[in-house]
Amino acid sequence: MPIVNRRKFLSNSLLGLSALYVSTVLPGCGGLTDQVLGNGSFKHGIASGDPLHDSVILWSRITPAGKPKSLIVAWDVALDSEFNDLVVSDLGKAEADNDYCVKVDIRGLQAGTRYYYRFRTENNTSATGHTCTLPEGDSQSLRMAVLSCANYPAGYFHVYREVANTDNLDLVLHLGDYIYEYGKDGYASEQAEAIGRVADPTTELLKLTDYRKRYAQYRTDIDLQAAHAAAPFLLVWDDHEVANDAWEFGAENHSDDEGNYSERKAAAMRAYFEWLPIRPTHTDLTEPSSIYRQFQWGNLANILMLDTRHEGRNAPLALASYFDTAGGFNRKKLFEDIDNPEREMLGTLQRDWLETAVATSSATWQLLAQQVLMGKIYLPFAVATQQLSIDEYAKLGDLASLAGRQAAGDPTLTEEELDRLAEGRDQLTEEVEALLKAAPIPYNLDAWDGFGAEREKVFNIAKNYNANLVVLSGDTHNAWANNLQDADKNPVGVEFATGSVSSPGLEAYLGIEADAFAATEAGIVSLVPPLKYVNVGDRGLMVLDVTPEAVTANWHFVSSVLKREYTMQDDRSVTMQVLKGTHVLQSIERNNA
Ligand SMILES: [Fe+2]
Repeated sequence: MPIVNRRKFLSNSLLGLSALYVSTVLPGCGGLTDQVLGNGSFKHGIASGDPLHDSVILWSRITPAGKPKSLIVAWDVALDSEFNDLVVSDLGKAEADNDYCVKVDIRGLQAGTRYYYRFRTENNTSATGHTCTLPEGDSQSLRMAVLSCANYPAGYFHVYREVANTDNLDLVLHLGDYIYEYGKDGYASEQAEAIGRVADPTTELLKLTDYRKRYAQYRTDIDLQAAHAAAPFLLVWDDHEVANDAWEFGAENHSDDEGNYSERKAAAMRAYFEWLPIRPTHTDLTEPSSIYRQFQWGNLANILMLDTRHEGRNAPLALASYFDTAGGFNRKKLFEDIDNPEREMLGTLQRDWLETAVATSSATWQLLAQQVLMGKIYLPFAVATQQLSIDEYAKLGDLASLAGRQAAGDPTLTEEELDRLAEGRDQLTEEVEALLKAAPIPYNLDAWDGFGAEREKVFNIAKNYNANLVVLSGDTHNAWANNLQDADKNPVGVEFATGSVSSPGLEAYLGIEADAFAATEAGIVSLVPPLKYVNVGDRGLMVLDVTPEAVTANWHFVSSVLKREYTMQDDRSVTMQVLKGTHVLQSIERNNA
């Protein structure tokens, strides 16, 4: 095997392949000493991603001495951590035009094989990373860590450290919000200065140089570097890689005075493809690449990475627009819009691709890895519109129930119940009674609940091909498990949603104290029939074990992201499972039960 291959490197250059994205084909030939290597260090770590049966993307970023136009870097791939059993060594260029990021598609590898890799400059060798290729044919197991929403100023990346600490990890699924675009005083930055994690740059990200700088800051984090070194990542972006609550042609956090949105989006996506180990659909990074793609883990799992955010999504619906000036709510119009078949989340091209990918798969499990919650989370109207808290809704609901029983002459009412009713009856105003009677509505129109017609189309794909469907979701900063049901309430599959790495969740949004987490979780689950589990207050990861018989999700939570030291909250860990052929959640095991 060649240690260094000058001929191939030169031919890549002559062919005009981007130095950022060079391909190696095994076996190679030729020879060259390391004398040509440039001078630089690896302060942003290494990474691998997008493994196929015979290839994997390797990534690093060189911090050069000075500001050369380009410098030459080497990489090694071996079967052992000492790099004695070398598979390939090769050279490529890190270029200033690509922020000195190096991304290599190593080809000609063996299926289902673990590899070690590293990068070298003249004066430095990177850390060693672990990666693998996808197995072909029979496979009995797959273990993945599933993550989303890492906000650097919001807290330490202990969850990434836990990824590195997870035994026998095959893949890491990152479901988006790998970075956040806000300036130093933006979302969830209240503690940033105290914990030494003020956003860099300090202003909101708008241009290519801004996005690059933010990735560079995140990638100096040693816990994130450890996670990348541990296993190959499969990544999809969510909104914050560009701007909050984005759709195809705009975002909530973008205004006209911030410039042209499509230019901002292109800059953000270019930085994404430079800094992350994802295989681009174009080697010229000025061309926009799609990120929906497929990974086949033998005949066990077909992993379908979706883009529900930037590819074809229409602008989200806004609950406020359904209220009239007198406070009336136009429910009919809301559901007409939700069920409008013209409104899209994936877009026709991506949906057609998804159908083909499911139709042609012989894998036991179809895993849809994507951003936003797919399960139907309809909350009581008063709660969804934040006119009553969950607690207030429960108390008033109790009073209304007692009043109803009394009016019906229920002889089983106890003295205590009658006293409670007498004490609270004043609260049961006409307005409150109307609020309590109003039918539930979706709590988040930015999620699949706001795109009901297209959700049914996805469910139809799963039903038409009798898929064992497991949807994996991020975005909400909270852990969830849902039974997925079509419009006629037929079971279609299940959804496992991961919490966040550091972004605050419902506890911050709803002001829930830690001692009320368990009661709030029980309250929400009781209000939403298909929902079987939610964690409202902890940061963590989901570890997914896939076997021919079952898919099992294990949620693990850290004690704090605001303290440098942390422990795992074993009493908050939860396990849930779906068995092949059942399409419903099978069991729940609460460690604190
Ligand atoms: Fe997020």
